[in-house]
Amino acid sequence: RRTLRWTWRFTYLSVLATVGYTCYVVWDDRHPNEQVQPDPAKKTLVVLGTGWGSVGLLKNLDTENYNVIVVSPRNYFLFTPLLPSCTTGLIEHRSIMEPVRTILRHKKAAVKYYEAEASSVDPERKVVKIVDNADGKTKGAKTAETEIPYDMLVIGVGAENATFGIPGVRENSCFLKEIGDAQLIRKKIMDCVERASFKGQTQEEIDRLMNFVVVGGGPTGVEFAGELRDFFEEDIKQLIPEISHRFKVTLIEALPNVLPSFSKQLIEYTENTLREENIDIKLKTMVKRVTEGAVEAEVVKADGTKELLKVPYGLLVWATGNALRPVVRDLLGKIPAQKDSRRGLAVNEYLVVQGTRDIWAVGDCAVAGYAPTAQVASQEGTFLARLFNNMAKTDAHEGRIKELSSSLNLKQGNSAEVATEIESLEKQLRRIKDVKPFKYSHQGSLAYIGSEKAVADVPWFNGNFAAGGSLTFLFWRSAYLSMCFSSRNRVLVLLDWLKSKAFGRDVSRE
Ligand code: FAD
Ligand code: NAI
Repeated sequence: RRTLRWTWRFTYLSVLATVGYTCYVVWDDRHPNEQVQPDPAKKTLVVLGTGWGSVGLLKNLDTENYNVIVVSPRNYFLFTPLLPSCTTGLIEHRSIMEPVRTILRHKKAAVKYYEAEASSVDPERKVVKIVDNADGKTKGAKTAETEIPYDMLVIGVGAENATFGIPGVRENSCFLKEIGDAQLIRKKIMDCVERASFKGQTQEEIDRLMNFVVVGGGPTGVEFAGELRDFFEEDIKQLIPEISHRFKVTLIEALPNVLPSFSKQLIEYTENTLREENIDIKLKTMVKRVTEGAVEAEVVKADGTKELLKVPYGLLVWATGNALRPVVRDLLGKIPAQKDSRRGLAVNEYLVVQGTRDIWAVGDCAVAGYAPTAQVASQEGTFLARLFNNMAKTDAHEGRIKELSSSLNLKQGNSAEVATEIESLEKQLRRIKDVKPFKYSHQGSLAYIGSEKAVADVPWFNGNFAAGGSLTFLFWRSAYLSMCFSSRNRVLVLLDWLKSKAFGRDVSRE
């Protein structure tokens, strides 16, 4: 009985502490402290982008050391790992967005934010040209263009969708990189479903509309195919049973297997699961042309011969990886040391863009020898924050040492004390200056593959632990829930999952 009493007390206190902490987090979120205003005497640090790399930097940077300016056309951070779930309405888009203004308002010193695109960087004059494409946002507003001078520049602009110049891709496909893409896909799925159920619709047209083609068997393509299959099985089948048996997902991949970055056993597991889910996987099939209602591809057959294949589609989602953003391509052309860079800005082990001074790059636009993932981008951003915090401390220490040394030269009475302080400062300075180069620490790869199953490749001691199935799905959900940017995001995502389980996904079109 005594043990039971103590257990109750302990549980009661834990619940109280959790509720207290949650209340504090919510209160703190709404009541940030007053911010220190920019100081013209300090260096100007310009950060391009509000994605994983840049926000990783901003989150950990002591902003009082610099005048920080952030430029990005997107005034929010996007938690991309849950973006495929937004395409079917499992998760509402606002649940995985965090306004950049909220992030910056919580920094000690104020940070300027401009909603604009960097169109070019001039490394000679140390200025960034920025463009506010207001036309698309506010009716009647004109495009504005200006320049921002920088002392230090961090480029974290991410990447664009790769199309490899394949004709018809841009005109006819949906991509899956931004919130707008997910919203468009969600609308188009319902367009196809509603048009397929129209009175008197021909059988051929129903088959075309209900064929959802995904090009690219990387994690984006596989996760989207899985989410789509869940949507039809769990919701459309119940709501519109008359057409749901015509529903088909075709996943087209140029390589001999999907998820090339995962271990062999997980590739096999994923392909088998997708086939069980009736997803038609077409491997060794390279899309060569896209027209308004069909995809034309070249299939390499088992005997090595090639065959042309035409796949009609209602919705086409193109997920074939990354390409350079125009601002990055423009900068590459200005730096002779980058003439051989094709995939992004080549950086050294401190993430300095090779061939430049005072320019760093993080994330998908940087080539540091790692895969273009959120994990890498976020760790690079955090590394730069540590580096910049250290650089500011170095400057402060060097300034103080200079000041103390000149007072020593004046031979004042307290010279022994001053000498001791200098010695201690020099010791600290050596420690601060000893910043180790960036080293990526891989925490594992996870991907959702549909029907409440996921695959995980996680480093385990000196080897690798590979798992797939329903337990891995729970691990996947809890890992991504804990990685969400803020407590607000976590609560919203959790509520979305519960809401969809209880009431189903919202199939209204707008
Ligand atoms: P981004 O996060 O793309 O941010 C780029 C920022 O730059 C944006 O704010 C953009 O608006 C801004 N920008 C663009 N152009 C300009 C310009 N000209 N001037 C100024 N700013 C500009 N990775 C994982 O590790 N795990 C996952 O589960 C995972 N899931 C994913 C799911 C999907 C659907 C996608 C598309 C990607 C996923 N990734 C995942 C990959 C991950 O999202 C990227 O590697 C990551 O976003 C890269 O971060 P970044 O900061 O380089 O770029
Ligand atoms: P990807 O580059 O990983 O895969 C693209 C696939 O498209 C490749 O397998 C390629 O062979 C195929 N392809 C290219 N051209 C083709 C064509 N013409 N026809 C048919 N197939 C073609 O791209 P993805 O999936 O967009 O991912 C981009 C980055 O984001 C990767 O680094 C990935 O690891 C990361 N990511 C990670 C996720 C996770 O960890 N769960 C989820 C989504 C993305």
